[in-house]
Amino acid sequence: MASYMIKGGKRLKGEVEISGSKNAALGIIAASMLLDGPCTIENVPGIADVCIMIDICEYLGAEVTREEGGTVKIDPAKLRTCDATNDKARSIRASYYLMGALLGRLGKAILYMPGGCDFGTRPIDQHLKGFNALGAKHSIEFGKITLTADRLTGDHVYFDKVSVGSTVNLMIAAAKAEGVTVIENAAREPHIVDIANFLNTMGANIKGAGTDVIRITGVRTLPGNSTYAVIPDQIEAGTFMIAAAATTGDIRITNIIPKHMEPLTAKLEEMGAVIETGDEWIRVYMQRRKRLQATNFMTMPYPGFPTDLQPQSTVLLTQAEGTGRMNENVWDNRYQYIDDLKMMGAEVLITGRVATVEGPCKLTGARVTARDLRAGAAMVIAGLAAAGTTEVADVRAIERGYENFECKLRALGADISRTED
Ligand code: EPZ
Repeated sequence: MASYMIKGGKRLKGEVEISGSKNAALGIIAASMLLDGPCTIENVPGIADVCIMIDICEYLGAEVTREEGGTVKIDPAKLRTCDATNDKARSIRASYYLMGALLGRLGKAILYMPGGCDFGTRPIDQHLKGFNALGAKHSIEFGKITLTADRLTGDHVYFDKVSVGSTVNLMIAAAKAEGVTVIENAAREPHIVDIANFLNTMGANIKGAGTDVIRITGVRTLPGNSTYAVIPDQIEAGTFMIAAAATTGDIRITNIIPKHMEPLTAKLEEMGAVIETGDEWIRVYMQRRKRLQATNFMTMPYPGFPTDLQPQSTVLLTQAEGTGRMNENVWDNRYQYIDDLKMMGAEVLITGRVATVEGPCKLTGARVTARDLRAGAAMVIAGLAAAGTTEVADVRAIERGYENFECKLRALGADISRTED
């Protein structure tokens, strides 16, 4: 098992370049299976989940070549099976995007029920609602889901819940359906816009992505033969912004879209951090002798505060003066990391969806575990802010979604090293 060893108490200073968005890249790579020709995808992050998604696409018959600097060339012409039930597909939740792509391309898709992080129930009823509306049938047995459709016909779908995955999956499946599909109560995350822009670059006709109504006019073919660059990762950028505030450092985060960071920028300013914004960068620092002030957070679908920055922000609250509250409205059980945080000395009370944090608290190093991708990143931030040495175990969970994480932190002055049992 791989661990990070962190000697805390150092202020992070300097500049960090953000990689391509994990959640956009995963959706785009899956969506490329829908194409009738090859495509080139740039700015793909070198992370474990992307490697797994590429492996799954190759398993299905697509030809994939990876070049230096995050460029991936995909030719799905030789797609030979709709059956993606292999162990790799079970290990990442984003494999569910292949449901829409394989259904749209081959009229059939067989996958394991989705895996991924465990924040309580992770249903797919809205995904199925969308596919059924287009005329697909589904059956679930032996832990596998089979979707079939003689043909897909556009329809009007009103999602009961705002769901990123369902919105993306239906957008993909509808891209080559006959007629028009309208998605109401659609999710509006930046990576949904990115996946829609990718599909449009390849020949699709999708309008309204980024709003809660998306209109997809089905096309007969998606010729592809184009190049598309993935947007920067909003959550990686937010993680470094929070690390700057938590260590009273001074970091300039580059290669980002500041607009995507506004839900976090607003909260950091509320807490007393200083934020300077350029066209493609944000600088976060604390004024001398100024302490962070506690505030309240509510995670919501975009443009609300992102749930994927919840663990990191809860750690930040331990460094702020006063009582702060984190209200997790998206996932049922995304506080598994709190016990580890308490081992480091944090004062946190969980009542239902709300974590109440008393601060400021002098965290001290301990042996903790990366329970999932974002909780792991949060434990790293806690270790950076703590006195003494923190071991964060099982960091593969972090490396699923953060490219060169400990190298980027070391370049900012963090005393962090990676060990492997
Ligand atoms: C995506 O998960 C992200 N994963 C998650 O990021 C992120 O936390 C989540 O969106 C919310 O922003 C990827 O993009 C690969 P949802 P997804 O469908 O699509 C309920 C990370 O750290 N729901 O928007 O699975 C669900 O239970 C990961 O990068 C249904 O009820 O999330 C949840 O309460 C972790 N029925 C809410 O909707 C459904 O059919 C949001 O889920 C689908 C979802």
